[in-house]
Amino acid sequence: MDEIGKRKKDHLEITRAGNAGYEKTAGFERYDFIHDALPEMDPEEITCETRFLNRWFGFPLFISSMTGGHHDALPVNAVIAAFCEKYNLPFGVGSQRAMLEDPSLAATFSVVRDEAPSAFIASNIGGAQLAGGLEKEKIALLVDSVRADAVIVHLNPLQELRQTKGDRNFSGIREGIRTLVSDVEIPVIVKETGAGLSPTVIEQLVDCGVAAVDVAGAGGTSWGRVENIRSGATEAHFTDNWGIPTVDCLLSSKEHVEDKCELIASGGIRSSQDIAKSLCMGAVIAATAQPIIKAVLDNGYDGLEALYKQWEDDFRLILCLLGCDRPTDLDMIHLRRVTMR
Ligand SMILES: Cc1cc2nc3c(=O)[nH]c(=O)nc-3n(C[C@H](O)[C@H](O)[C@H](O)COP(=O)(O)O)c2cc1C
Repeated sequence: MDEIGKRKKDHLEITRAGNAGYEKTAGFERYDFIHDALPEMDPEEITCETRFLNRWFGFPLFISSMTGGHHDALPVNAVIAAFCEKYNLPFGVGSQRAMLEDPSLAATFSVVRDEAPSAFIASNIGGAQLAGGLEKEKIALLVDSVRADAVIVHLNPLQELRQTKGDRNFSGIREGIRTLVSDVEIPVIVKETGAGLSPTVIEQLVDCGVAAVDVAGAGGTSWGRVENIRSGATEAHFTDNWGIPTVDCLLSSKEHVEDKCELIASGGIRSSQDIAKSLCMGAVIAATAQPIIKAVLDNGYDGLEALYKQWEDDFRLILCLLGCDRPTDLDMIHLRRVTMR
């Protein structure tokens, strides 16, 4: 197995084990829901349908970009894709860089389209790969391999800096994103991978014309920690806990995205309560990675479906107890800041 394949396989194993999280939290516990004792609704009429990038989805959950590019990834992507097809959820494949270097790996991504002919699928490429300008033919290769509905660009300077042989030249990424936006006909989404997007970065991305930003804040999977574990270190490193908590990203970015681009909440989304709070804080949809990979690797399709059904049931309950009959009713008025003692 080549270097990238080995790294991707390590990522699956380390994150599945669940011990590569942040010490700090995503911040959702700082807010509590304001209970509505008079909901005045029939719970049967609640809908979870969510509009994102001009498409309707069954539930406000995006399955975050995770894997592909090594042969063990193929069955994982196939399971997630079949699940997204059934429940009409958007899904991002993992970084497709590996298939640019070894075209035989394209099947580990294209399996997603075989299993999910009508689902919303997003391609994925690193900002670092756009820095010098990625040829149009290469972009077309990535997009066509999954007949993508959107392209995701991931920003991960922390991970690249902590990785042996990481891509360390970050100059030109912003221009690379701007060029990508004008070169492709599908929406461009930019995400972090767990260290968060600040309001300043979000402003710059909005200026580049991206259709959506995914804050991917701190509090869930820590890529500093993942790379620290991979390096064989026995001591913690300060970057294990580096990043802006998801709640801070959401609350500080809301005004920068309004009407200009759509906001995705991710990084430490671990329950339907986190999803509902994210939507109250201005996100259109929430996204999650680690719980999905764990469910699939531990219990396959059935594990993933069980997790989803639990989240969907809980989310309906939350909507009812807040007096809301649809996700777009969720607003900051439904939250109160918890006073910490
Ligand atoms: C096994 C694994 C592989 C990942 N690979 C990618 C990737 O290739 N591209 C990407 O944009 N993000 C990747 N991520 C990052 C996630 O999309 C997400 O932003 C991050 O893990 C934070 O979400 P979480 O706290 O729900 O795990 C990966 C995450 C996991 C768990």
